[in-house]
Order: sequence, then C-alpha cells, then structure tokens
Amino acid sequence: MRKKFYKEAIEIALKEKIALTFDDVRLQSDYSEVKLSEVNVESKFSRNINLKIPIISSAMDTVTEYKLAIRLAELGGVGIIHKSLTSEEQAKHVSRGKHHLNAYIEKPICIFSDESVEEVLNRKNKKGYSFNSFPVLNREGKLVGIVTGNDFEFCDDHSIKINKIMTTSPLHFVGKINIEKAYQKMRQTKKKALPVTDKKGKVIGMYVFSDVKRVLNGNKNDYNVDSKGRLIIGAAIGVYDDAFSRLEKLVRENVDVVVIDTAHGDSKPVYETLKKVKNQYPELDVVVGNVSIGESAKRLANAGADGIKVGQGPGSICTTRIVAGIGRPQLTAVYDCAKAIYGSGIPICADGGLRYSGDMVIAIAAGADSLMMGKMLAGTDESPGELIYLKGRTWKGYRGMGSLGAMQKSAGARQRYFQENVENNKLVPEGIEGRINYKGPLEKVIYQYIGGLKAGMGYVGAKNIRELREKGEFDRITAAGVRESHPHDVEITEEAPNYSVD
Ligand code: IMP
Repeated sequence: MRKKFYKEAIEIALKEKIALTFDDVRLQSDYSEVKLSEVNVESKFSRNINLKIPIISSAMDTVTEYKLAIRLAELGGVGIIHKSLTSEEQAKHVSRGKHHLNAYIEKPICIFSDESVEEVLNRKNKKGYSFNSFPVLNREGKLVGIVTGNDFEFCDDHSIKINKIMTTSPLHFVGKINIEKAYQKMRQTKKKALPVTDKKGKVIGMYVFSDVKRVLNGNKNDYNVDSKGRLIIGAAIGVYDDAFSRLEKLVRENVDVVVIDTAHGDSKPVYETLKKVKNQYPELDVVVGNVSIGESAKRLANAGADGIKVGQGPGSICTTRIVAGIGRPQLTAVYDCAKAIYGSGIPICADGGLRYSGDMVIAIAAGADSLMMGKMLAGTDESPGELIYLKGRTWKGYRGMGSLGAMQKSAGARQRYFQENVENNKLVPEGIEGRINYKGPLEKVIYQYIGGLKAGMGYVGAKNIRELREKGEFDRITAAGVRESHPHDVEITEEAPNYSVD
C-alpha cells in the first residue's frame, strides 16, 4: 500500500542506508495543464506564518539584517535577523522592519529652538543620524518649528540658533492621520515633513515625504504582512538566557516568529528552551532546528515546535561534515523529516545547500514547505557588508556563523555550535569565511528563483506547493546524468541571469 508521503527513489536508497542530495536526483515531468501565470507559490514557514513565496533568509551576519529582511518581506518571504547582534541591536533591526511600511516615525528625534546649529550638527554626526528633518520644540516641549536638509545646507554661520533657520508655524497634524491622508496633505502644501502632535502641541510622530511616497508606490500585493499590515520579520535566538534576554525585547518590537537556531536541534538545551519559550510566549511561533533525522523532527513536533528546520552539513560555508563527521545529505534529510511529521500541520524548512532554482523545486517535492538560503541571497545589495573589488570582479563577503571569524566576534555565533564558554584561541570552527560574486538587487535574484520554481511546477503539472510535494516523482541519476544536466561541450560566452558555475 502506498504511504501518505512516499518518494520511491529516496526510499529505495534509504533501505540501503544511502542518503541522497539534490544532485543525485531530478524530477520527472508529467502531463500538465498548468499555466505559469496561474501557479501559486504561497506556503508556510511555521504554523501561523504564511509566505507569499517560500523563501526564508538565513540568520547569518553576512545575509540578514533589517535591509534584507525588509526587502525580502516586500517580495513575499521572511528574513530572520541574525543573533550575532546584541539583543538591543537585534531588536532595533526588527523594529525597523516592523515600522517600515507605515512610514510613520513614532517619537521622532526633536531639537530645541535655542540650540545652535553647530550643537545640532555635532549631535547628528555623533549619533549617526542619516536624516535631516527635525521638529523643533520650545523648552516646554511644544512644537514651534521645523528644520529640513535645505535649512542646514543654506546656513553658513553655524553659531546661530535653530530658531533663526527654522520654519515657524510648521505644517502639522493634531491627532491620528493615516499614510494616504498624510501624503495628500504634504503634496498639497509641498512640504517634506509632517509632524503629528497631541492636543497640547507635544510631538508624537512624524511622516517624511520620501518614505511615504516609497511605501505608497510599492507593490503591496506582493508584501508579506501581518494582520496590521506590517511586514513580517523573524529573528534568531539561542538557548537558555540568550533566548530570554532577546525574546523580551523582540516581542516588545512585535517580532512575528523566532527561530531557535542551533547546529543540533535534537538536544537537551533546545528542548528545555523550547518548552519554556512556549510557556512564556504561547502566542509566538517558534521554529526549531537544525535536525536531519525523522525521529528528531517527530520529537521536536511533540515538544511544541511550530516549524522545523532541516539541514545538518549541507551549507555552502559549512565544514561540520568534515570536522565532526556528522550530517546527512539534504534531500534525504528533508524527506525523512517531512515524512515523519506528515499531516501534523507543522511546516518543514529546508535549510542550506541550495545552489540553483532547480534545487528549490526538488527540495519542495521532497517535503519542504519553505527554503532557507544563505549563499543564494548573500552578495546582494541588501545583504550586510561592503563591496570588494578584486581580480577584476565585484564580490561581497560571505561566511559561516561557525567560522572562526564569526565565532570570535560573537557569543551568539559560538552558542550555535555550543561553544559559548570557549576561549577564542580554543574554538573549533565548523565553517569557513569567504567571498561571493556580487549579485545586484535582491529583487532581481528572487525573480529568477521564483521563475525557476514556477517553471519546475509547470513541468510536474503542479498548480501549487502542495501539489508539487504530492506529485513530484524523482529519478535517481548518475554522475554522467549530472554532467549532462549542466551545460556541456560549449564555452559559455554570455552569462545567464540564473546560471553560473562558481
Ligand atoms: P547555504 O544556503 O548553502 O549557504 O547555507 C546556509 C545555511 O548554513 C544557514 O542557514 C545555516 O543553517 C548553515 N550555516 C551557517 N553558518 C554555518 C557554519 O559556519 N557551519 C555550518 N553551517 C552553517
């Protein structure tokens, strides 16, 4: 009898204790009436976190900070802010993501009318403010003016007081005003900033025109948002105290989902932390990882995980399998875990090892609901880090969180590999530090990834992710098959936007 979730090619290999990975298989095509324009790639990351595209960004210091998390959520996925940041910094990144779409700045930075221009500019420099619009208050804390970039730019004498350069009786709004109305008001009056005050004249918020315009011009249908219309943002936490000191601040900033991010999810510290987190924050979705064995996934599901992350050793920057001899090729790992908890409603996230969009199609057909990517998203405009110009090419840094550099820098990274109390010169790395080709804007790469995923679904005859998982049948292929699959016997003269040989 056919089991509920059964992929023959993987099962046959498993019987002989052979674990497979993406390159070991390809999907068979099947009769299809599916139009690519109608393919639906919506999915889930965890019980309550929906996805418009099944892409999650890795919690790594060269992949996900607020910029990438914001853009990815705008494109329909979810970014997981890494935990090499302090708990305060990490919460700030979440906050920027959660506030991004309302363009409403709560408690904007204000200045006083009797301060000198120099004092304000010095403070701006010291604190690293990147903006130039400031509501101006008198010493009773009431709004009396506004200064914007032009006022500073056209001021030659920095010793004069702010009240000499500010616009008095500024445009403002008393009470609550939504973004559309704020936009109309600023357009009509050609003002770049709209402070919002309470009835007593105290500034409670502000809209800035450039933000408002950006938000209103965005493609809102693609955005992955919460019930209040804010972008969905996730964050990584460790175990025990690390988890709780982060959670307190993350929850205050309305984080949507947290990931207990460890190299070995089927371990006592993870279970103890999960239990306590679910007790203390029953409303919060908690994804747990990483595991690679079906029995581990079952244990985590029974312990209350809202999502399970699978991947031990497949990452492009990972050396766990070499250093520790541990891990399981990713196709079998995903399949075994998905099969073990099939029908439970707990989504599986395939984490690591994805190299091309074809691997995404294969991972989903093997049981994944979502795909976590490091390498495939690193090197974009939105990923952290500067551009590197070397050997005539443009690169960005990409490194494992278990690399020496990442672990030396942060306790969060050390804890992922259970080495939080180890001295810097005694660390045993499980990852490497490297660089990766610069890829340009995130939107461009995601477009290709989703295009490839939809193409694969079309070949299988799957209208949606569930159908791909149910219908996708694998052939196991040989090394000759892999060679045949890639371009061969031809020198590539033009790089394709979705194919390159690293
Ligand atoms: P990639 O998409 O193949 O580059 O893999 C990214 C994934 O590798 C991450 O989401 C983590 O699960 C995992 N990872 C991150 N840093 C390390 C490391 O230093 N060693 C092992 N695995 C890592």
